Amino acid sequence: MSEARILSDQVPYSRITAERYVSRDYMERERERLWGKAWLVAGCAQDVADPGDFFVFDLEPESILVSRSEAGELRAFFNVCQHRGARLVGSDLGSMEKYTCPYHGWTYNNDGSLCHVPDKNRFNRGIPEEQLKLPELRVADWGGMIWVCMDDQAPSLEEFLGPIIEMIEPFRPHDMRLVEDQTCRLECNWKAVFDNFGELYHVEHIHPQHELIFDCPTSTAEHFDYGHTRVLIDGFTVNSRLPIPDEVPPTQWAQMETLGMDKDDYQGRVLDVRRDIQIKKRELGPALGYNYDLLSDEQLSDIVQYNVFPNAVLVLQPEEFWILRSRPHATDPNKCYWDKFALRMLPDVELQKGAKVEFPPLQNRANVSFNLDQNSDGTIRPEHDEFDQEAIIAGEKTMTITLDQDIHLIRDVQKGMQSRGFREAWLNEDESRVQHYHTWIDRYMED
Ligand code: FES
Ligand SMILES: [Fe+2]
Repeated sequence: MSEARILSDQVPYSRITAERYVSRDYMERERERLWGKAWLVAGCAQDVADPGDFFVFDLEPESILVSRSEAGELRAFFNVCQHRGARLVGSDLGSMEKYTCPYHGWTYNNDGSLCHVPDKNRFNRGIPEEQLKLPELRVADWGGMIWVCMDDQAPSLEEFLGPIIEMIEPFRPHDMRLVEDQTCRLECNWKAVFDNFGELYHVEHIHPQHELIFDCPTSTAEHFDYGHTRVLIDGFTVNSRLPIPDEVPPTQWAQMETLGMDKDDYQGRVLDVRRDIQIKKRELGPALGYNYDLLSDEQLSDIVQYNVFPNAVLVLQPEEFWILRSRPHATDPNKCYWDKFALRMLPDVELQKGAKVEFPPLQNRANVSFNLDQNSDGTIRPEHDEFDQEAIIAGEKTMTITLDQDIHLIRDVQKGMQSRGFREAWLNEDESRVQHYHTWIDRYMED
């Protein structure tokens, strides 16, 4: 095979060497060329819905403060006091009219303006307030997420996301609410865990539960500008490489029952379940409080995943939305943070009441999504829970069965990449999304 070999019609082959996963030098260059240039998912829009709301987005060694001002404007600032550089806000999220620096008490309004300096008359150079307000960066609210970008020259978020915007909006992510907020400290490079979500090649090996609800071999991958990708996977079916079972697998029973479907009716015709799930959801959706009007039949039964360059994985079903995100470690390319925000659709009746954070317990709710992975009681905005990967490996914490299985493997992948016996990845067609992503990593890094 020559260097001109292509992985698919759309994605040219290029080398993915170990350096990008293990080199400190490469990690430092990423700060300028990648993190400093791309639009990034900073957090959930519901956390800055009201005046005074704020949250902190840590992108080590950077920290960004996203704030809704008293006037209702969404702002994003570098989370650093302009006096002598102390970290201004330490907590994850909350509501504050003013931010007071813990060091000497300089105080800023939540629109970033400086409003109080203790012993102001002792600054013989004066206090040029315009110069000393919190430095601001670009911010946007779209898709239930807050996005930030440090580069004034970068394209708009609309241009950056391109066709993805129209594809995701029918799922109404803005109407969903957070039920789980977790961070796992992983011992791998932030791109190594992201790559794991760029292919389904590993699924048959490490996620055996998926073959009884998804058909990965017939999935469709697409590649977009700026390094984004999408994969569509049929759900409520079985892996088409395996013999078709006579009985509906137990992984599908709970959802069928919620929709009034009897699994015994599908004896010998398991492949009809998917179509009937679509029909039943269309029929019963309004009674269950779900508005499926903008979604296609396929979207009612299947699963779609967007990998948004450079570090966010968005997994969408009609009733549930996962935002997975990797973030770099401040000093070590062999470590990263792996975040999971799980959101669920609020039934329409609650939207009408204007409920913002109150969320009924999941067990009282119609649960018509795959439910491979439910583990939150979801009553109020969940606390942020952060833990080491060892807590997952020991079974003390879970990010759901599927993610736990990935986390078990990923540490050893990073160890392998550090070996002088590993030079570069050797990809197949099913890994074309990984290739596409890294082609765009190269573009950013070489610019
Ligand atoms: S560093 Fe913030 S008040 Fe001194
Ligand atoms: Fe996986």
